[in-house]
Amino acid sequence: MPDTTKHLLLVEDEAPLRHAVAEQLTERGYRVEQADSGEAAHARLAEFAFDVIVSDLRLPGIDGAALVQAAVERYLEIIAIVMTGFGTVKDAVDAIKRGAWDFVNKPFQIDELLHVLESALEQRRLKSENAYLRAQLEDRYRFDGIVGKSRPMARLLQLLETISGTSSTVLVIGETGTGKEVVARSIHHNSPRRANRFVALNCSAIPETLLEAELFGHVRGAFTGASGNRQGRLEQAHKGTLFLDEVGTMSAALQMKLLRVLQEREFERVGDSHTTKVDVRVIAATNSDLGKMVAEGQFREDLFYRLNVIPVHLPPLRDRKDDIPLLVRHFLDKTVAQAVASQDAASTRPSVRMQLSVSQEAMRRLMAYQWPGNVRQLENAIERAVAFAANRPQIDVGDLPPEIQDARQAAASTALAAGVSLPEEGLDLDAFMSGIERDLIQRSLERTGGNKGQAARLLGLKRTTLVEKLKRLEKQ
Ligand SMILES: Nc1ncnc2c1ncn2[C@@H]1O[C@H](COP(=O)(O)OP(=O)(O)OP(=O)(O)O)[C@@H](O)[C@H]1O
Ligand SMILES: [Mg+2]
Repeated sequence: MPDTTKHLLLVEDEAPLRHAVAEQLTERGYRVEQADSGEAAHARLAEFAFDVIVSDLRLPGIDGAALVQAAVERYLEIIAIVMTGFGTVKDAVDAIKRGAWDFVNKPFQIDELLHVLESALEQRRLKSENAYLRAQLEDRYRFDGIVGKSRPMARLLQLLETISGTSSTVLVIGETGTGKEVVARSIHHNSPRRANRFVALNCSAIPETLLEAELFGHVRGAFTGASGNRQGRLEQAHKGTLFLDEVGTMSAALQMKLLRVLQEREFERVGDSHTTKVDVRVIAATNSDLGKMVAEGQFREDLFYRLNVIPVHLPPLRDRKDDIPLLVRHFLDKTVAQAVASQDAASTRPSVRMQLSVSQEAMRRLMAYQWPGNVRQLENAIERAVAFAANRPQIDVGDLPPEIQDARQAAASTALAAGVSLPEEGLDLDAFMSGIERDLIQRSLERTGGNKGQAARLLGLKRTTLVEKLKRLEKQ
């Protein structure tokens, strides 16, 4: 059963009023969190997908209207209600222009607020997605297919802008699925080389014996089966960009040849004595720690320095959860557009599908999950959810992959991410603690690829203790 409790963020700087409203809303079944300033509310919104925000308009620092605008830009499904201080209609109208659903005039009876809330929730349930808002969002935060406006991503985009104008070698470092190739392409497409080719070569996907010929090309008769002259990827990328993916897997012999390319901008095709000059920008990517590989003698130090001219670190998705709503929106639109384009829409009623949205409860699970496979895993989860949602216009918890649905784990990670604090309405300590236990065990198993012995060591437990705990948690 999906949890239908509505999570509400109450923003009001006057403590007595805030406490009173919170108490009454809690009595009516809302799950209320309180914030005493726009800043505090803003920070909380980055971490948690509330269903409703009820905010005072006049706040110290970030005011209510700006807060509302930020909230609805982040979560298209959120309902924002403002409380106006002096009955000034103008301020309320301004807030509504910025995305507020409705307002109540202070002082108000709690029933007045409840009425506004309930009618908003009902209308929202019935109302379809606002396509205009969606389009606006996409335009504002996309930079050549790179979606994200979290602090790490904003910093990254800034760096990319600087890099694009140059021809310097770039090393993109990040866990699997964090967007290394997307970033490499966008550097190229924003660079003076954009009119020429972007050529990608995945060093781990091609057998060692073929990789050299793939990279440098070969002449006729260079090896068995080499029936003609062939250009390698390096030559294809002349005046453009060569993307060397998983560069950490290159053999020592090839590492040396690549070093020469980077130093001299020249090479020989396999079996050729003639030297070829090229003008390429190299962007390399790796998900291993090349520095460590250098220390262990598995990667040439000189090559490492030649590649690592400008390091670009891609943060894992779990460190920028506030990008998840935007990415979800992006992948929803992408999946729907693909379905419509491929005409497999016969059974999927495109008119409905164009308006697909995600419930806030599903969004909470998506934001609480740890995403070991990063953005790619999120993309797959959304694709799957769209298929599961079939003809329904809204994706709900049940449409998500099972590991993401797990509510107890989600609750615990949210609590951890938020820093453990005692909620206004109190909590069930035992359930809370076992939630944290479950979450940490899960994370240790993910980190060790399911190896219970290693996971136990990470947690300072004996293996047998971990196994016992797992059994106990499964029963709960
Ligand atoms: N910031 C982003 N905005 C939009 N889409 C993204 C973003 N980052 C990644 N993606 C999408 O996620 C998927 C994985 O990205 P990409 O292939 O670039 O990752 P990667 O780091 O190269 O992964 P791997 O290490 O597995 O090769 C792609 O479909 C890509 O379009
Ligand atoms: Mg890749």
